[in-house]
Amino acid sequence: MINHALILAAGKGTRMKTELPKTLFPILKKPMIEYILDEFEKTTVQNIHLVVGHKKELLEKHLGDRVNYVHQDEQLGTGHAVMQAKQNLDQQPGATIILPGDMPLINQGTLDEIIQSHNDSKELITLVTTFYDHPHGYGRIIRDDSNNVMGIIEELSANQMQKQIKEVNTGILVINNSVLFKYLDLVEKDPKKGEYYLTDVVSIFVKQGHRINTYTIEDNSIVMGVNDLVAIAEAEKYFRTNINRMHMLNGISLINPETITIGHGVRLSSGIIIYPNSTITGETFIEENAIIGPNTELHNAKIKKEAQIRHSLIYDSEVGERTTVGPFAHLRNNAKIGNDNRIGNFVEVKKSTTGKDTKASHLAYIGDAKVGNNVNFGAGSITVNFDGVNKHKTIIGNDVFIGCNTNLVAPVEIKSEVFIGAGSTVTNDIPKGSLTIARGKQINKKDYYYNLIQPKK
Ligand code: UD1
Ligand code: MG
Repeated sequence: MINHALILAAGKGTRMKTELPKTLFPILKKPMIEYILDEFEKTTVQNIHLVVGHKKELLEKHLGDRVNYVHQDEQLGTGHAVMQAKQNLDQQPGATIILPGDMPLINQGTLDEIIQSHNDSKELITLVTTFYDHPHGYGRIIRDDSNNVMGIIEELSANQMQKQIKEVNTGILVINNSVLFKYLDLVEKDPKKGEYYLTDVVSIFVKQGHRINTYTIEDNSIVMGVNDLVAIAEAEKYFRTNINRMHMLNGISLINPETITIGHGVRLSSGIIIYPNSTITGETFIEENAIIGPNTELHNAKIKKEAQIRHSLIYDSEVGERTTVGPFAHLRNNAKIGNDNRIGNFVEVKKSTTGKDTKASHLAYIGDAKVGNNVNFGAGSITVNFDGVNKHKTIIGNDVFIGCNTNLVAPVEIKSEVFIGAGSTVTNDIPKGSLTIARGKQINKKDYYYNLIQPKK
């Protein structure tokens, strides 16, 4: 019976050379540790403990009460990390599955098989191994002539012969709680690195006369350990390839899929085409027959049927049916664009809603506005929503024509059926049915060119 999982995430992640702790480093915009937790939560293991230390506040803040925290104040190695969980696990029945926190590609199916293998074996310890053609960086599995596991030798301590061994420690171990700490206590500090290696516990089991049950994983990619940014890129590529493949098999057309990144939380309906260099992440939902890209970034976006988004950026926003966005548009912070709109070249929309048939075809800024149906924003027209201290709202009714280079100085309300002359700076509300011109009057002074201002030849 395996009731406890212990995930190690206290290490400094020195080889990452990043500010962010390794297990919080994002892959497809989702922190690495979340992948592991998502999979563990689908298994039968009920108690998930996370060893935290280096920058633990960040992990605790991010994960809240999703796990039980175990503190490792000094990072003295993986063996020392497990030792810190003694209080949580020592008196518990059954076994604990121990897993490094830098294994983002692990999946529920594999975890289930490991748990099954341990339960079936009746041994006190199960070691999970795999094979790599290039095993550099991993602990190597030492076996005797009868193929029994004798121990694990870490890369740093391995001699040339041992370095040739292609069977490696994945980092996953299942150990019965009754003996875990008894044998862990016997682990000594590694003289080279000055750390207590969890891996040394394996040879201790052997010395105490136990057999090591091994479970070998065929697809070595799913147990890859991420130690540096190269491995982050490899993990991302693995996810990307699999996710894209799944969508293509489901009838989503991806043009040049190597350049397209789609996150796990993205839902795509049938008939969608995605063009190159597009990144779609977060809780994004795209409805039937929408066209996305090229060069488009969507995050937490809702794109409705037959909408087209080209060369654009959409964050936390929604686009209505048949609406076209781009090229070079930016929707953000809860912009909700209605059906049959056109949000065109160099237009930004922030925290605003629009009704049906509204158009901002070029060079407009719509911020903190509630816009009705069939409103036309001329080129260069903007909502002046910020007075330097506070943001204010602009409200626009239906059937409004806003001439080019108009400033709508908020707070301001434009009622329905209004025509605003180009170049107006609107500071007062406009009643229904008006023509508004709010600009300096043009003056033509006859013959002034010749008499006063004729430039020198
Ligand atoms: C470890 C294994 C190695 C295995 C490899 C698989 C050891 C000694 N080595 O090496 O045999 O092949 O994983 O990927 O276990 N951590 C702590 N506290 C510490 C040190 C580390 O919590 O004091 C955590 C890290 O945050 C990390 C995990 O333990 O999530 C593994 O540590 P890491 O430094 O990545 O070990 P590897 O060198 O990859
Ligand atoms: Mg590692």
